Amino acid sequence: MNKGLFITFEGADGCGKTTQMNLLKDYLIQNGYEVVLTREPGAKGLGEQLREILLNYDGEVADRCESFLFLADRAQNIETIVIPSIKQGKIVLCDRHIDSTVAYQGYGRGLDLDEINYLNNIATGGIKPDLTYVFDVDVETSAKRVGDEKDRMESAGKEFFNRVRNGYLELAQKEPKRIKVIDSTRSIEEVFQDVIKEFRK
Ligand code: TMP
Repeated sequence: MNKGLFITFEGADGCGKTTQMNLLKDYLIQNGYEVVLTREPGAKGLGEQLREILLNYDGEVADRCESFLFLADRAQNIETIVIPSIKQGKIVLCDRHIDSTVAYQGYGRGLDLDEINYLNNIATGGIKPDLTYVFDVDVETSAKRVGDEKDRMESAGKEFFNRVRNGYLELAQKEPKRIKVIDSTRSIEEVFQDVIKEFRK
């Protein structure tokens, strides 16, 4: 099935992953590849409505409910966008995926990691990214980049984001072949050079 490539972009809010994803998209298109961009939550249609709830609902949201909404969006993204595109030989670039749920709902909210891995596996049908970038920035830098206008997830506080960051770094240690950590406190150009280097590898 795996004719194309599946690459995911991860990191705390304000880490610069979306900028890097767009730069890689332009680079790949210039080099003759067919590229599909998607994101979690909220690639299109139903996903966009789930994103609206997840980021902007202002009542109580139970941690497990939050996880299931992210997972529901993931199942939709994988089945309607990722798998068909990979089958057509395209390179799929996805802004956030399974590791976000491990980092945010697992390390951040404190839900059981084995349970999250199990549920992630159900949501994706067992498909895993070929390559994952984690754009690493300290909590102060990411808070500065996000600014004062925060959505529901971005309002979680410094301790939460410290746990999220550590979660990503631990994940990268567990899966060093798939997950590449990139120091994203540097300039956009410097970070992008590392993005290309890892892609070429
Ligand atoms: P972003 O699209 O701006 O990166 O925002 C998505 C937000 O949702 C971000 O704060 C991370 C959060 N998130 C989770 O908590 N769990 C998940 O599984 C995913 C995909 C995102």
